[in-house]
Amino acid sequence: MRTSKLLGSLAAGALLLLAAGAASAQTIGFSQVGSESDWRTAFSADMKAEAQKRGIDLKFSDAQQKEENQLKAVRSFIAQKVDAIIIAPVVVTGWDQVLKEAQAAKIPVFIADRAVESDPSLFVTRIAADFNLEGRLAGAWLAQASKGNCNVVELQGTVGSAPAIERKKGFEAVTALFPNIKIVKSQSGDFTTSGGKEVMESFIKATDGLKGICAVWAHNDNMQLGAIQAMKEAGLHPGKDILMVSVDGVPDIFKAMLAGEDNASVELKSDIGKYIYDVVQGYLKGKRDYPKWVLIPSDLHTPADAAMVLKMKGG
Ligand code: AHR
Repeated sequence: MRTSKLLGSLAAGALLLLAAGAASAQTIGFSQVGSESDWRTAFSADMKAEAQKRGIDLKFSDAQQKEENQLKAVRSFIAQKVDAIIIAPVVVTGWDQVLKEAQAAKIPVFIADRAVESDPSLFVTRIAADFNLEGRLAGAWLAQASKGNCNVVELQGTVGSAPAIERKKGFEAVTALFPNIKIVKSQSGDFTTSGGKEVMESFIKATDGLKGICAVWAHNDNMQLGAIQAMKEAGLHPGKDILMVSVDGVPDIFKAMLAGEDNASVELKSDIGKYIYDVVQGYLKGKRDYPKWVLIPSDLHTPADAAMVLKMKGG
């Protein structure tokens, strides 16, 4: 009799624990930009792996670089009554209405990676690197590598996206201090390898094989990798005759550095799921004193540390 009572209360306890466990499993909606670059793919993989580690039920939506897909995804997260929403926005504009809808539904929104231009009261915080600083680091590297004399061709990221806007501004803020550094051609390659290759092919044509050009500045590594392909196909020597600087620090750019075909990349960290979920879960537990921008640091890398960084990235 005593044993069956004990078993009964153990079973009840186990049921309570199960119920508590089920109640605490958080459902988080994540609207991701797409899979346009190696950096983005690594970031998505990290967000999924980190969610699994933490027992988060992650609703992942790939917007294929279209804001309209993101708006639909966020509205569906609201309808599903998720506990929190994370958005990595394609472009900076067009967010106010959907953010107001999430706020009305009392679902906290966290902006990750790219920024929005909306009223900051519509989201909890943004967890992201400083894109302007990345542009300034790239510009400073080029100023010293070219001794302040350089005609630059620029491969811009997606038009209207925070990294394209801020990296351009940051790069120009530094290079404007050097009267003999000029951006002579600039076009968007949409952050993709194929976009970078296509734009570089047109630059090569327009400048008769990059005559008088001293550097390629790309807003991300994938466009730079595309540019390297185009230059090699045209018989040019990227990284030797032309300085190459970009942003992201993906494994293939370090491989290009080690092959002598690239010179510098500012690393944008992709394993940032831990920082993002720390903030989201902290908020869901009641912590409220977050700054409006939780900053993730960025560093510049060159062939001098390429092998070490590549090893650290498991490449
Ligand atoms: O928002 C970050 C940028 O988006 C990365 O630099 C680029 O690779 C990606 O597409």
